[in-house]
Amino acid sequence: MTTSAPRPRRLQGADVGIPPRQLDFRLPEKLAPWAYADNATATLFLAMLSAIFPPGEDFFVRSVVHFRDRVQGDEDLRARVAGFTAQEVIHSREHDRLNGVFQERGFPVEVPEKAVAAALTVLHRTSPRLQLACTALMEHFTAVLAEDILSTDEFRERVDADITELWLWHALEELEHKSVTYDVYEVIGTSERERRLAVPLVLATVGVAALYGWGYLLVQQGVWRRPADLREGWRLMFGRGQFMRRVLTRMPVFNHPRFHPDKHDTRELEQRWREILFGTEGSLTEQLRRPPQR
Ligand SMILES: [Fe+2]
Ligand SMILES: [Fe+2]
Repeated sequence: MTTSAPRPRRLQGADVGIPPRQLDFRLPEKLAPWAYADNATATLFLAMLSAIFPPGEDFFVRSVVHFRDRVQGDEDLRARVAGFTAQEVIHSREHDRLNGVFQERGFPVEVPEKAVAAALTVLHRTSPRLQLACTALMEHFTAVLAEDILSTDEFRERVDADITELWLWHALEELEHKSVTYDVYEVIGTSERERRLAVPLVLATVGVAALYGWGYLLVQQGVWRRPADLREGWRLMFGRGQFMRRVLTRMPVFNHPRFHPDKHDTRELEQRWREILFGTEGSLTEQLRRPPQR
């Protein structure tokens, strides 16, 4: 009797540094009144950001999965795509839960979520190649945002401790999979023209919808009648040297002819945060439903 050799196990996300971690965050039942630096304007910006992740990440995954067949011959990239997809799906699920907490707090975060979902339907009408270029741009944004959150103390000092860990975990995984979209884009052949076009396209759709959503929350919560809060919130986000200003000033590198996410090395930062969150004494180790699937 002949026995056939066992088929080699296919690589999974966890084998290539992109482990989907099944987490069930212990979210607070009740939020502090203003979770970002005790400022309503900045808190509503954070709530808007959380609200737009589920539709955004759904778009990212779809635009990458569209080209899945093109990466089948590259076992490593195929596994990284699988890890990326699984991580993004879990991010959306946990942000959905956080968005529920924001809703309980009285913030109608479904408005920015729906606005961005509608904006993305416009991008859906463009070519799959252009959609992938837009995703690569938005993944560059999330990677820069993530690096900023992890590399400074500011976010942890300003944001209510009850909800920071979800953002820290999300930030770590955004860095772990930051180059997947771009590597798939390279497989199909990147185009400088498409990358340039992605910028106004994303700004005119997702950018406008996000600002609309933030504005809606500010009006609905009556913050627009509090100029001191608006001024301080704007300063905390977009003032010189502040959070979003730092992130936005790092965006133009995306249009550099030889751009690649890995040219900016964040491996040490990732390793440090993997240890802090998921090491033996990791603050989130206990909240893992099970070890990352292999
Ligand atoms: Fe994500
Ligand atoms: Fe991502």
